[in-house]
Amino acid sequence: MTFTQIKLAPSILSADFARLGEQVAEATRAGADYIHVDVMDGHFVPEITLGTRIVEAIKRCTQLPLDVHLMIEQPERHIASFLDAGADILTVHAEACTHLHRVIEQIKEHGAKAGVAINPGTSVIAIEGALHWMDLVLVMTVNPGLPAQKYIPGSEKKIARIRHIMDGRGVKAELSVDGGINTSTAPLVARAGAQVVVAGSAVYNHPEGVEVAIRKLRESLALPEG
Ligand code: DX5
Ligand code: ZN
Repeated sequence: MTFTQIKLAPSILSADFARLGEQVAEATRAGADYIHVDVMDGHFVPEITLGTRIVEAIKRCTQLPLDVHLMIEQPERHIASFLDAGADILTVHAEACTHLHRVIEQIKEHGAKAGVAINPGTSVIAIEGALHWMDLVLVMTVNPGLPAQKYIPGSEKKIARIRHIMDGRGVKAELSVDGGINTSTAPLVARAGAQVVVAGSAVYNHPEGVEVAIRKLRESLALPEG
C-alpha cells in the first residue's frame, strides 16, 4: 500500500508575508492540493494573524481551493465574510461553537465545504455526533496558535480512532491533520488514516525551498506501509 493519494495543504503561516503571492504561487506550481490559511483572533489563540482581505488577495494568486482554518471565537459572526472572500473549505473549532450543527449548516448554505477542528486535548466525542454533517475533520496534532511546534507523540491513535468511526458509519468527510507535520510524521498520520496533511514550517522553512519541500513530503508519503 502507498500513500500517494494523500493531499498536501501547505500552511502559509510560515510563508514570507512580504512576498505572500509569490509563496502561494510556488506551492501551487509544486503540486499542492489546497492552500491552508490560518486565521487567529487573539482570543481563541493568543496571536492575531490575518483576515478576509488577505484571503481575497490569496484567492487571486492560485486556482487551488483555499482551506481556511478559523482559530477564532464565535466563528458564526465571520462565516459569510470569509466565504465571500474566497474560502472554499471553512473550518471552525468545535471548542468555539456552542451550536456546531447550526454553524456547519451556515457554511454549507453558502455552497462551501464545512470543516470542524479539534484540539489535542479535546475528545473525539465532541465531534462524533456531527461527523455526518461535515466535509472535513481537522485533527490538531499541536495546540493551535503557533507554527513550527512539535507533533504531539501518540496523536496517530486519535486519528486512527476517528478513521475507524468514519469508516464504520460511512462518513464521507476528508480527514485532515494539522501541526508538526514533516517527512517523519506525515507517514505516521497517513498510516493512521489521514487523507490530507497540513504542513507549514516543513514547506516554507525548508532550506532548499518550497518545491523541494513538497517533493520530499510526497516522497515520504509514497513509502510502503510497515
Ligand atoms: C497551528 C496552525 C497550523 C500551523 C502548522 O496553529 O493551525 O496550520 O501553521 O504549522 P507547522 O506545520 O509548522 O506545525
Ligand atoms: Zn491550521
